[in-house]
Amino acid sequence: MNDDSPFEFSTDPTRIDGARVHELIAHTYWAKDRPRGVMDAAIAGSRPYGVYRRDTGEQVAFARVVTDGVTFAWLADVVVDPGLRGQGVGKLLIAGVVADIEPLGLRRTLLATADAHGLYEQFGWVPVTERYKWMERPGRGASTPVGAPASAPGGAT
Ligand SMILES: CC(C)(COP(=O)(O)OP(=O)(O)OC[C@H]1O[C@@H](n2cnc3c(N)ncnc32)[C@H](O)[C@@H]1OP(=O)(O)O)[C@@H](O)C(=O)NCCC(=O)NCCS
Repeated sequence: MNDDSPFEFSTDPTRIDGARVHELIAHTYWAKDRPRGVMDAAIAGSRPYGVYRRDTGEQVAFARVVTDGVTFAWLADVVVDPGLRGQGVGKLLIAGVVADIEPLGLRRTLLATADAHGLYEQFGWVPVTERYKWMERPGRGASTPVGAPASAPGGAT
């Protein structure tokens, strides 16, 4: 997308619309039940990114990167407004994320996806090789932010 595009990418955390992100994430298969407080806490602990309509400023896409800033990163919660999918917004978003983290010189950036491999492959991601090296420790799921009462249901990234 170029300057004529109706959409613009931004790395500015102050532009993130928490309510809108929570609405968008409700349209995903992995976080549809994630409480607003958990989503807000995840945004606060990440490098958050957005794509916005140039005319209204409305946020139409979101992604976040969890990173130590020097060696490792995890790309999570990539989502585009369901009504705007297939128009290049996702590619605008991921191109912006990659441009932002590239200067960090990270050793690797991981992600998990059920079916969008073809999107990420266009930006350099490849399937994990040597899968025997990789392990995960499943948790209880992020139902509440730290310090909040554990009452609402939730889902992990
Ligand atoms: C996946 C998603 C972020 C893509 O955003 P989008 O704006 O629809 O995508 P774009 O129009 O920019 O194009 C995506 C490109 O990736 C490709 N692609 C591969 N797998 C795809 C998938 N599962 N969904 C969408 N695009 C996919 C498309 O073919 C397209 O490539 P092309 O232009 O060379 O044909 C969006 O569909 C979405 O929010 N889906 C629901 C949430 C989700 O699944 N997120 C990813 C989980 S990691």
